[in-house]
Amino acid sequence: MVEPIKKSTKEDREKWIKDAKYNLFNLKSEQVFVDLLTDSGTGAMSDRQWSELMLGDESYAGASSYYKMKAAIKTILGFDYFLPTHQGRAAENVLFSTMVKEGDIVPGNSHFDTTKGHIEIRKATAIDCTIDEAFNTTAIHPFKGNVDINKLEKVLQDYPKERIPFIIVTITNNTAGGQPVSMQNLKDVRTLADRFKLKVIFDSARFAENAYFIKIREEGYADKTIKEIVKEMFTYADAMTMSSKKDAIVNMGGFIAMRSEKLFKEASVFNILYEGFITYGGMSGRDMNALAQGLNEATEFDFLDTRIKQVAYLGNKLLEYGVPLQVPIGGHAIFINALTFLPHIAREEFPAQILAIELYKEAGVRGVEIGAIMADRDPVTRENRFPDLELVRLAIPRRTYTNNHMDYVAAALKNVFDRRDSITRGVKILNEAPVLRHFTVELEKL
Ligand SMILES: Cc1ncc(COP(=O)(O)O)c(C=O)c1O
Repeated sequence: MVEPIKKSTKEDREKWIKDAKYNLFNLKSEQVFVDLLTDSGTGAMSDRQWSELMLGDESYAGASSYYKMKAAIKTILGFDYFLPTHQGRAAENVLFSTMVKEGDIVPGNSHFDTTKGHIEIRKATAIDCTIDEAFNTTAIHPFKGNVDINKLEKVLQDYPKERIPFIIVTITNNTAGGQPVSMQNLKDVRTLADRFKLKVIFDSARFAENAYFIKIREEGYADKTIKEIVKEMFTYADAMTMSSKKDAIVNMGGFIAMRSEKLFKEASVFNILYEGFITYGGMSGRDMNALAQGLNEATEFDFLDTRIKQVAYLGNKLLEYGVPLQVPIGGHAIFINALTFLPHIAREEFPAQILAIELYKEAGVRGVEIGAIMADRDPVTRENRFPDLELVRLAIPRRTYTNNHMDYVAAALKNVFDRRDSITRGVKILNEAPVLRHFTVELEKL
């Protein structure tokens, strides 16, 4: 599917971003020229996926589309049980309603914002055990998304088992820069979890990209197919949550998959309450069909190779221009280090947000802040949290833009980089929500 995109002038954009209270989520899509806000649900479906839409079975219960999705999950991911949900955070809501209670501790590798939100809203605590290399954007490590096994072991020793409902591993690690987790690391987490008799959940939005990096970078996997690698990865998990808007290449959808019938039955109660009956859980039959097909396509090497090389194409151009990025370049996005880009802007003035605003003003390119605004306030002290990294993410939708668009984005960012000293102040928060504030925050330019 091809859709037109609209050009605008710098004057237009200055007005629009001001009207949007300097929050890029508030812009209308027609005010954006190249939209790299997210790779979530913004991919283009294939001819085969569009054909599957026509075969959708919209029966309330027992639809053939449900069974198609069930078969794809069993064949590709290896889980016997699953529950459809309308997207990834809904999967978190259902699963965490079943497993997380007040006072719990959930260790993991840079929990995604909605994951953390769903933990904290239940008055539980997410503890980040990502390896230190992830927080140094120039450090080269093939699997910068890895869990630090020593940090994890310490958490498991420090807290009673009853307070740890599971360990969550995000593949790939979005928050740390789309960085992969190695197979060895997944195995080590499993071994440790078994020692402490704990469950392991994979937050799997970009599991196929993770498998691609294992094939390319980890010894012993070069000759395996992506599907073989994916199958092995999931043998180390008890359950998974999925935002199908990423590596199932649909515009909307998600699911939870699990090995245990008991967990399936417990989670079914919340699925019916929040999402819908267990055989559709917030999804249309036609969308479940497209999702099943998407899982197949996303685990084909050629698709992943093309996609990940397009991300690298943009990244390498930016590196040539001297723009500071998280390296190695990740699977789905470029992450610009705003603290190095704009070292003269105080953390309290949200340098990554002002950088995202300047890039939009420059050329109508929309990225997103992954920094202190997204990190939100500490739920107890209500103080701003300043994460180790202050990033602007440029996420590349799947099968949507050409490398011509990538050239345009690179040139736009180079222009901002060349005039970085003229950006002297950041933004201040006027209004914010009590949780997940970045989506709706209202800002003022200082
Ligand atoms: C790693 C990860 N987990 C969970 C989610 C939440 O998924 P959704 O946006 O479908 O609710 C996302 C979305 O970006 C994600 O990247």
